[in-house]
Amino acid sequence: MYEAKEGTVIRHGNLQYQLAKKMGCEGHFCFYGFVGEDVQDRKQRGPAFFKISPDLSELSLSTLSFEVEKRFIGDICLSGLAGFRPPGLAIPTEMFETTGPRDEKKHWGVRVFHYFQEGAVDDINERQEKPLDIARTVKILMDVSQGLAFMHERDCLHRDIKPSNILVDRESGYLADFDIYHGPSVRGLSIGGVSLDDPKYFRGTKDFICPEIIPSHSAIFPKIDMQRFDMRSDIYHLGMSFFIAITDEHPLGVGDDDSLYLQMRKALFQEPRKAAEINPAIPPEADKIIQKALEKDPDKRQQTAEEFRQELYGLLLLLMNKREER
Ligand SMILES: Nc1ncnc2c1ncn2[C@@H]1O[C@H](COP(=O)(O)OP(=O)(O)O)[C@@H](O)[C@H]1O
Ligand SMILES: [Mg+2]
Repeated sequence: MYEAKEGTVIRHGNLQYQLAKKMGCEGHFCFYGFVGEDVQDRKQRGPAFFKISPDLSELSLSTLSFEVEKRFIGDICLSGLAGFRPPGLAIPTEMFETTGPRDEKKHWGVRVFHYFQEGAVDDINERQEKPLDIARTVKILMDVSQGLAFMHERDCLHRDIKPSNILVDRESGYLADFDIYHGPSVRGLSIGGVSLDDPKYFRGTKDFICPEIIPSHSAIFPKIDMQRFDMRSDIYHLGMSFFIAITDEHPLGVGDDDSLYLQMRKALFQEPRKAAEINPAIPPEADKIIQKALEKDPDKRQQTAEEFRQELYGLLLLLMNKREER
């Protein structure tokens, strides 16, 4: 398989992008991220971020994710990419299939995004080696909640909200990575014999697993029921992301080395820590919002993304007042 490399030129109609810098790739889960430029019209286009599936004829995770994202765009932007751009969502500016530069028969799937220089929330945490400022986090998450509300209104669930899927531009946040979203156009879909909607098959990030999708924990191998994942499960993930962004720790103390079984038990039985225990500068009002979002029972959480956003707005006003008092 020919891989996109730095310097590779991608053509689509009048556009010609030269891929400039490989941004990193996480095994087979990751598409290739590049910063590229439109070489014909540099001034107008500037840098962009690319996700590339090098061979669509092969049924790989990157092919699946290209297909799923294409459908997501159909569900979210009714008039395709040209029309209205919803706020708080990092949707590709272009999405096309083209032939690879060497083997003309192989189709590449290309997604072009606005390039977010700062990357995702967890990239910032890692670079600065300390958690994000709370007021900045609140603003970022208010945008993300707005994007999520937009999705929920259209019967779409994100299912993988976490710090590495929240892109940042100064104080604005954008929800990204719709590879495992669930919505009207993927319901019941199977691609190449792979059902995307099998409720027994866990989809998401293991250390973010939410309690409601684990209906039985008595057996050695607990069952998963993805059908129980609903809007409130996305809100659980917002709460989790908030906690991690401002503390750099997991609210249930889940570690990378924990088995899935242990992660599930913690999701079901472990009470979340308070962020103020880790960082005393965090006000109790922030912990109140997080604890509510992390309730084991979805009925006790914020019921909509808009409700979550409103609570964040209240917190932001409080933080601003405190700053003025100082
Ligand atoms: N538009 C972008 N601008 C800058 N960095 C990005 C952009 N999109 C993604 N990234 C970086 O690449 C990482 C992986 O992207 P993501 O879309 O989440 O794909 P994956 O399916 O591999 O998780 C992000 O966590 C972020 O660090
Ligand atoms: Mg991701």
